[in-house]
Amino acid sequence: MVSLGSVFGLLLLIIVRASRSAGIGFRFASYIDNYMVLQKEPSGAVIWGFGTPGATVTVTLCQGQDTIMKKVTSVKAPSNTWMVVLDPVKPGGPFEVMAQQTLGIVNLTLRVHDVLFGDVWLCSGQSNMEMTMLQIFNASKELSDAAAYQSVRIFSVSLIQAEEELEDLDKVDLSWSKPTAGNLGHGNFTYMSAVCWLFGRYLYDTLQYPIGLVSSSWGGTPIEVWSSGRTLKACGVPNTGSERVLQPERKPMRSDCKSEGSLCPLERFLPPASVTGPVTHSVLWNAMIHPLQNMTLKGVLWYQGESNANYNRDLYSCMFPALIEDWRQTFHYGSQGQTERFFPFGFVQLSSYELMNTSDYGFPEIRWHQTADFGFVPNLKMPNTFMAVAMDLCDKDSPFGSIHPRDKQTVAYRLHLGARALAYGETNLTFQGPLPTKIELLTHNELLNLTYDQEIQVLRQDNKSFEISCCSDHQCKWLPAPVNSFSTKTLILGVDACLGTVVAVRYAWTTWPCDYKQCAIYHPSSTLPAPPFTALITHQVPRRRAGGSKDIWSSTNSFIQGRGL
Ligand SMILES: *[C@@H]1O[C@H](CO)[C@@H](O)[C@H](O)[C@H]1NC(C)=O
Ligand SMILES: *[C@@H]1O[C@H](CO)[C@@H](O)[C@H](O)[C@H]1NC(C)=O
Ligand SMILES: *[C@@H]1O[C@H](CO)[C@@H](O)[C@H](O)[C@H]1NC(C)=O
Ligand SMILES: *[C@@H]1O[C@H](CO)[C@@H](O)[C@H](O)[C@H]1NC(C)=O
Ligand SMILES: *[C@@H]1O[C@H](CO)[C@@H](O)[C@H](O)[C@H]1NC(C)=O
Ligand SMILES: *[C@@H]1O[C@H](CO)[C@@H](O)[C@H](O)[C@H]1NC(C)=O
Ligand SMILES: *[C@@H]1O[C@H](CO)[C@@H](O)[C@H](O)[C@H]1NC(C)=O
Ligand SMILES: *[C@@H]1O[C@H](CO)[C@@H](O)[C@H](O)[C@H]1NC(C)=O
Repeated sequence: MVSLGSVFGLLLLIIVRASRSAGIGFRFASYIDNYMVLQKEPSGAVIWGFGTPGATVTVTLCQGQDTIMKKVTSVKAPSNTWMVVLDPVKPGGPFEVMAQQTLGIVNLTLRVHDVLFGDVWLCSGQSNMEMTMLQIFNASKELSDAAAYQSVRIFSVSLIQAEEELEDLDKVDLSWSKPTAGNLGHGNFTYMSAVCWLFGRYLYDTLQYPIGLVSSSWGGTPIEVWSSGRTLKACGVPNTGSERVLQPERKPMRSDCKSEGSLCPLERFLPPASVTGPVTHSVLWNAMIHPLQNMTLKGVLWYQGESNANYNRDLYSCMFPALIEDWRQTFHYGSQGQTERFFPFGFVQLSSYELMNTSDYGFPEIRWHQTADFGFVPNLKMPNTFMAVAMDLCDKDSPFGSIHPRDKQTVAYRLHLGARALAYGETNLTFQGPLPTKIELLTHNELLNLTYDQEIQVLRQDNKSFEISCCSDHQCKWLPAPVNSFSTKTLILGVDACLGTVVAVRYAWTTWPCDYKQCAIYHPSSTLPAPPFTALITHQVPRRRAGGSKDIWSSTNSFIQGRGL
């Protein structure tokens, strides 16, 4: 005998379920909301959401009393989703977006207001991307400037991990908002990324139309957590599951103490909990990037790599280009082809860390791998990318540890120059520092002649920024090569300290290459630093570590000439 009570309970359950599927399920995707920025022309913005299978959904774009366009679609089973692609819209606003679901005689209407059209950039990475405006230099002035940028809108994804690819964000920290001192400076490593915001602000100064910024980053995370399984497989990354990653961001740093030997207050080096992140492969790809795939984007910014300095480091030169390619494919197909297939992808080359560390590995290698071992971008493996060099923006007194430098303005400024050149086609804009195109041993092999692709400014004529690999008896070691003399585009290094064969030369190959904005070589007018490089001079002795820099350099306009003894 079934009791009346349980029958009643069952009925109630059925009623609740039915009413849910009839109406409550009709909603926009998590990131379709008031104050959002939708991607402007020539792309079409994607609007999507959930609803009752079989129902018709009409999406209307209105401005004031005017209906600008209407798109009709239906809710698909079994995903219970609907999607429309708007016709391309010129930058501006505000607009209202309305969606109406019709099923039988039941109509349901959703509205979002104050919607702008402009360029949408997604910002991702680890704690240096996560750092907020509260944590940077001149914070209060920068925060009070936010009022002047009401058309730069911000959105921040919550820190969520998932074992499977999610269709929509589970949670949002900061829904689309106008910028305020409160939401930009909400806390340490929470809500909005300072690099992302400043980049958007600089872009707005140039473009003078709305910019949408989506922040989706998590401190202390290696690239593997942001990569799909197929990307990692393609690079032969061992599936280490949830093995702990050595996280430099969590390590107390002795070099941060002002005076050697003084006892550092330990709390100073314990970062807030949000600085440590998950390490299980793909979990943030699944929960924090994949759900955004249907959004039409202009481009992506990336500031990550610290957590790979000691973790799968040498796979980074494969993993990073593979991540870029995978994200490009995913966003292109997810947006029905509206996000450009090779959308612009900008990134920050790692800054400095650990003043006293003399290791050749770690940061110098990761900086190189960030360029797929070319030394510059864009290159054959990383088309349509741009890079902000940041190795000269050290900050040994940062209260967040020297791994978190507080000058984010310069980082964002350098990034925005790359965007203007690469993404907005500004010609005649210097957006990267000088690199040598020709390296030649001069007579008697006592001097090395480096010819640069641009004019150079030699800020410091020191004897440790450049090093040569000196080989004799099948043994090689790196020796300092002092700057002997220089002219507009050439630099002469003294290499007489080498009694054997000079086989390679490298520049700024340390974790902490120079004092603040005091590296050896810059572009004279742009003040952009010369990126670090390593290059073979002769083919007689193979390079110690694999990387094939010779092939790469000679496969571009750059080439290396020279001869050994
Ligand atoms: C529902 O919407 C449709 C299309 O906009 C309209 O024709 C119909 O009259 C509406 N029904 C009700 C009950 O409001
Ligand atoms: C952020 O960190 C700084 C430096 O450690 C600290 O002084 C400040 O109180 C923190 N702010 C918040 C909101 O936690
Ligand atoms: C988002 O894009 C993916 C990949 O193209 C697609 O399978 C999915 O159906 C899209 N979502 C919606 C709501 O259309
Ligand atoms: C220097 O950096 C390397 C590579 O990141 C690391 O293995 C080593 O522990 C560091 N040395 C010190 C003294 O911290
Ligand atoms: C902070 O403000 C001072 C004074 O305006 C300026 O000289 C300095 O460059 C600013 N720092 C950064 C990192 O923007
Ligand atoms: C390009 O830049 C150079 C140096 O700033 C300037 O002299 C030249 O006039 C510029 N050319 C154009 C076409 O803008
Ligand atoms: C260095 O190379 C450049 C370019 O080939 C050349 O113009 C210059 O004269 C060379 N310098 C010396 C000292 O040989
Ligand atoms: C490098 O320069 C410093 C200071 O100018 C000097 O003391 C040192 O001997 C030089 N080292 C070499 C290898 O030339």
